[in-house]
Amino acid sequence: MLSAFATSTLFLVSYLTYHYQVGSVPFEGRGWVRSLYFSVLIPHTILAAAIVPLVLVTLVRALRGRFERHMRIARWTLPLWLYVSVTGVAVYGMLYWL
Ligand code: HEM
Repeated sequence: MLSAFATSTLFLVSYLTYHYQVGSVPFEGRGWVRSLYFSVLIPHTILAAAIVPLVLVTLVRALRGRFERHMRIARWTLPLWLYVSVTGVAVYGMLYWL
């Protein structure tokens, strides 16, 4: 989990640096792929913002040895984190390959 956190932090820093320089990349697709793209992108973006404090709280509770409280929040953090990671790759694939 610490490796996942370190990797995610590196990704976030490189992602923000890239978009600070390049700006946002518009989706060129039309028709049903456009609807598909936004139906994946919108929940991904909302949850990507929410996952940052969730992961930090989950991690801090574990590192302080508060495992009961850690497990209560981790039941939400883990599936949401996985969802954000997988849909992030899907959004990337649709944006640059479709
Ligand atoms: C953000 C990072 C982490 C996530 C997403 C995460 C996720 C989880 C999940 C899903 C569970 C099982 C909850 C359940 O059974 O309902 C769990 C349990 C646990 N985690 Fe984490 N974890 C993280 C970081 C850590 C770290 C850094 C430690 C060690 C310091 C740790 C120690 C534990 C322990 C001791 C349990 C209880 C295991 C048991 O009694 O079955 N976790 N965690």
